[in-house]
Amino acid sequence: MRSEEIRESFLQYFRQRGHRIVESSPLIPQDDPTLLFANAGMNQFKGILLGKEERVFKRAASCQKCLRASGKHNDLEEVGGDGFHHTFFEMLGNWSFGDYYKEEAIGYAWDYSTRILGLPPQRLWVSVYQDDEESYRIWREVIDIPEERIARLGKKENFWMMGELGPCGPCSEIYYDFKPETGEGFNPDSGRFSEIWNLVFIQFSREESGKLSPLPFKSVDTGMGLERVAAVTQGVGSNYETDLFHPLMDWLREISPDGDLYSQRVISDHIRALSFSIAEGVILSNEGRGYVIRRILRRAARYGRLLGLREPFLYKLSSPVVDLMGGVYSELVAKREHIALVIKAEEERFGETLDLGMELFSRVAQRVKGQGGKMVSGQDAFKLYDTYGFPLDLIQVMAKDEGLEVDLEGFSSLMEAQRDKARKAAKFGLGMQVSLGKIPTTKFLGYNTLQAEGKIVWLKRDGESLELALDRTPFYAEQGGQVGDRGEISAPGLKIRVDNTIRRDEATIHLGRLVVGQPREGMEVIAQVDESRRKGMERSHTATHLLQAALRRVLGEHIHQSGSLVEPDRLRFDFTHFKGLNPEEIQAVESLINEKIREDLKVDTYLSPLQEAKAQGAIALFGEKYGEKVRVVRIGDLSLELCGGTHLQSTARIGYFRLDKEEGIAAGVRRIEARVGEKACRLAMEEGELLGRLSQLLKSEPADLEERIRRLLQERAALEKEAQRLRCLSYCQLVEGMVKRATVMNGIKVVREKVEVGSREELLQMGDALRGELGSGVGLLGTVLGDKPALLLLVTRDLVSERGFKAGELIGKVATLMGGRGGGSPHLAQAGGGDVKKLDEVLEGLPSILEGYL
Ligand code: GLY
Repeated sequence: MRSEEIRESFLQYFRQRGHRIVESSPLIPQDDPTLLFANAGMNQFKGILLGKEERVFKRAASCQKCLRASGKHNDLEEVGGDGFHHTFFEMLGNWSFGDYYKEEAIGYAWDYSTRILGLPPQRLWVSVYQDDEESYRIWREVIDIPEERIARLGKKENFWMMGELGPCGPCSEIYYDFKPETGEGFNPDSGRFSEIWNLVFIQFSREESGKLSPLPFKSVDTGMGLERVAAVTQGVGSNYETDLFHPLMDWLREISPDGDLYSQRVISDHIRALSFSIAEGVILSNEGRGYVIRRILRRAARYGRLLGLREPFLYKLSSPVVDLMGGVYSELVAKREHIALVIKAEEERFGETLDLGMELFSRVAQRVKGQGGKMVSGQDAFKLYDTYGFPLDLIQVMAKDEGLEVDLEGFSSLMEAQRDKARKAAKFGLGMQVSLGKIPTTKFLGYNTLQAEGKIVWLKRDGESLELALDRTPFYAEQGGQVGDRGEISAPGLKIRVDNTIRRDEATIHLGRLVVGQPREGMEVIAQVDESRRKGMERSHTATHLLQAALRRVLGEHIHQSGSLVEPDRLRFDFTHFKGLNPEEIQAVESLINEKIREDLKVDTYLSPLQEAKAQGAIALFGEKYGEKVRVVRIGDLSLELCGGTHLQSTARIGYFRLDKEEGIAAGVRRIEARVGEKACRLAMEEGELLGRLSQLLKSEPADLEERIRRLLQERAALEKEAQRLRCLSYCQLVEGMVKRATVMNGIKVVREKVEVGSREELLQMGDALRGELGSGVGLLGTVLGDKPALLLLVTRDLVSERGFKAGELIGKVATLMGGRGGGSPHLAQAGGGDVKKLDEVLEGLPSILEGYL
């Protein structure tokens, strides 16, 4: 079966059985601080599984993009070693949220595997959690699997958890047997078996304390690796030989015909992870997500070297990925150039140090092995990391290839010392760490009101610092770039100043300080948002939508938001584009926005099913979930975006838009900073005032200022020229005197003078004048610049060619007399540093040094 047939037949199978077909959630989770990348199909249903989100449907199925290269599920090290592990992969899954349970889940999985995929039942083995008698019984009695093909395994294999926290439960897995003829028993690690489907019976939530709390209802969460199923149904022994990888492996085999399979597998795996994550806007960096992706890229680049690929090559392989997967994942097609550009920039950047680092490493490895050692020191590893940009896991891979290990303790302590330094250098102003314990859901009222009554339902206090949640609140919690509200929460005898508002799961947390009183859970309070700040935010947010629309009109539809920050009357917008904006483009964007502000377009917000909103052309970020309804913000006919933020009712209230700054922040990503409303007006006013002051200073009308400054600059250039001429004249007189005072050694004129000049430049000019006057000879000029000594030594051309004098060499010796250093060409050399008081000594010392040459 081709991979697209598998995807389709799976979804159809479950659609026919009452499952809602849900789109893959983004690889980059938008609202789960516990997760860097989607690692399972169940991620987007976490709220439902935990009973925190409404169950708008009880059965679902999807094909989910996953990346397992960090956190609890990390397969990075396995990639390449066998044909079945990946960083990026697609997971087919079906779910029951408190609906069917073990018997149906097992029945569906067996039926789909054997009847639809056509897998021979005698090749399928299953495992169950050691204590799960029910699953065992179902496999044994209902499905009729022979006893010897059911394994009971422990917690490590058969108790599934999404992360350290969250939904979990015992699981049961289906394995495919590639070599039944061996006749041996079950060993999941032997390479003979491929685990194709995992059925998890979600019953618990793992709390921070480590406790497993039973959930309000039991769920089914399954995951089947598309690549593995493709390998099995396509009759090949490895995922890398399926249609999902074939074009990538072929490409690599073509450019590295003698390359090793391991490297080729790693690269073809990594390029998929890179393409998908960069398409979703990951920016390579040194922390978090950006670093996970940078590490993957650098590993791939290093494996490329092992294949003999010295030039950037990965970026070229991204296009075959887009060709292969773009039909199913249109975000790849939209970002084709962007993906290649980002990868190429990073390959070039790392390429410069990759060779040096690899060479350094091989010297280290030889040294260690030569001394009969087994360990690469923390210091060597840290140098590779810090100076050459090698991720630690890559250093470990390289060490392993040489049969060595890395001193991780040594490495960590150097790392810690560096972090310590950075920590001391950085200023910290962040709010308190917020606990992830269960906090009741908050109802948000802030689209329509800035003041509301509510009840304290959760409270955490540390001295005067408070974190609290209400059952309902008008406070907007930081999200989608819009920063959190500030304001006040009060009740008779109680006053709390709210400094920030953030979101945790479905709850809104107010962070602030107790001004007076004793807050308690259950207390009724009044929550009042700081109105003028919120209005400023709304001006910025609505202007941000206008900006995105204007950029698309002026620059093209390829513009996509890759980040944004909405603050009171100030905004920042990051977007994909290949080059800087020219002044005309900037002006066009700014004018268009101000025009739309004057047109006073109406801003409508409404809820709509996701598919409908997308069909109308709404710009979606990648954060939208399957949720029944999404919030749409429409501005006239100009802009349609999915957005949960707060907005003005019409554009005129923005007042005025000023673009402050446009710059590149990463390959293919530009950033615009702008001001609106009062801040934009103030900026214009300040600029007006500045013009006024300048006009006064230059005794000119503002309109004539430009001409006036142009003239001043011309006059200044003429004066400089004149000054130069006069300086030359006076140097000529000066050097005449010097040459007259010159001593003569063996027929060679030697000038030694202490002079007064204002700069190194003037010293050089004086040297030129001296060379002209001297005709044939050696000149040494000494001066004090700032409070440091400076020397200039010149040798005329004839003495260089006929007598072999070298100014560069001479000055080195001369400079040591004052403890300084210098160098230069045979004709001209300079020196500095050392003791300024020894300048006279230096000048006097020249003859004896010259004697050695005569
Ligand atoms: N959530 C099931 C799995 O990832 O295997």
